[in-house]
Amino acid sequence: MPPIDRAHLKSLMEREQKRFITEHPKSNALFDRARKSLLGGVPMNWMAKWAGAFPPFVREAQGAEFFDVDGHRYIDLCLGDTGAMTGHSTSATVSAINQQAQRGITLMLPSEDSIIVGEELQKRFGLPYWQFALTATDANRFSIRLARHITQRPKILVFNWCYHGTVDETFITLTDGVAQARRGNVGPPVDPTVTTRVIEFNDVDALDEALRTEDVACVLMEPALTNVGIVLPEPGYHQALREITRKYGTLLIIDETHTICAGPGGYTRTDNLEPDMLVFGKPIAGGVPGAAYGVSEEVAQCVSDRISLEDCDTGGIGGTLAGNALSLAAMRATLQKVLTQEAFDRMIPMAQRWTECVAKAIADFALPWNVTRLGCRAEYLFSSATPKNGTEAHDAMDFELERFMHLYAMNRGILLTPFHNMALMSPATSKEDIDQHTKVFREAAKELVG
Ligand SMILES: Cc1ncc(COP(=O)(O)O)c(C=O)c1O
Repeated sequence: MPPIDRAHLKSLMEREQKRFITEHPKSNALFDRARKSLLGGVPMNWMAKWAGAFPPFVREAQGAEFFDVDGHRYIDLCLGDTGAMTGHSTSATVSAINQQAQRGITLMLPSEDSIIVGEELQKRFGLPYWQFALTATDANRFSIRLARHITQRPKILVFNWCYHGTVDETFITLTDGVAQARRGNVGPPVDPTVTTRVIEFNDVDALDEALRTEDVACVLMEPALTNVGIVLPEPGYHQALREITRKYGTLLIIDETHTICAGPGGYTRTDNLEPDMLVFGKPIAGGVPGAAYGVSEEVAQCVSDRISLEDCDTGGIGGTLAGNALSLAAMRATLQKVLTQEAFDRMIPMAQRWTECVAKAIADFALPWNVTRLGCRAEYLFSSATPKNGTEAHDAMDFELERFMHLYAMNRGILLTPFHNMALMSPATSKEDIDQHTKVFREAAKELVG
């Protein structure tokens, strides 16, 4: 197929933008009002980046759908970028929240739920000891601090075009093989090239080279990249990575926040990984803020040897509301009753169907795109080759085309995960939802090539 005609794409986008504005008068009015009290008219900076002229304001959400203030229904394939992978407001989590909210929300003291959640996480991920935070970002930050403290090494290592939340050390990318602060890095406290080494995913030699100097405390990684499209590990990669990290005494932190899509114990369980530390946030409490990080027996021993009781509250690992009773009650219900094996048995076939239908449409319209799936998460990318590292995945991104696909879908009642082309399945996502997405995707493809 010849490259997408940009003039044609621009005119399609203008048509879609007009339609969006005409069909969302109430959201438009709320956005006008929001601009008078919220910076940029949105509660969080990235909400300004949705493909419409303004974001649709939400009236209510339930299961795999939500309604905006203008009365439009959406099939939600974004699911709060995994925060609502459970489906919105599932009854088990909501009832636990309701009950706990009436019995105390935050106390600075433990509840029995914390133990039940710790035991559940032990069973799922295989790591013996757990701590809680309010966000996956914080859980990553705390894990990095522990790794530095234990190893007494200054640096960390991440992968090109990774994302682990707003962790300062991770805002680093490679340009022509040279590490530099990631584009758009706002007010960095320190140049990330001082704190961090960055290499390509799936490159075993680069990892060996980067760790050889034995000054790297930890590797922080998603077992498959999920924030620049999906980049899967090549066969044998994880085994080689673990051997190299062990050889050089570097701790391995696996961030399962998104790759939990692989199954109830994340990619760690499906592929028998052996991390020293593991982070899991976003959907762990069904959308209530909460995150957890687990450590191995050896790490736990080093932590207790190196952190004194007198200093344990001021060492940079904290959060007054972390481990609060409400998020732990929500975690308990979510882990025990919602994100179960049975739920994954429903979600994964939905993602398979989504992937097969998108792949067929790509082939039928001869688009130079590809689609990749990991468990109940799938994503299409604007290149015909499947990427094997962050650079290849990032090179396949096309901001203009991506915005068109998102707006086209949004105008027809489908919400994709913004800033890339990802679809996530919840236990409530149905075959009909997938088939509706296929229909809309095919119509968009037809218009693009026509
Ligand atoms: C893999 C991964 N880890 C951590 C985070 C940070 O999560 P939060 O923004 O909830 O702190 C994200 C956010 O997208 C993520 O994708």
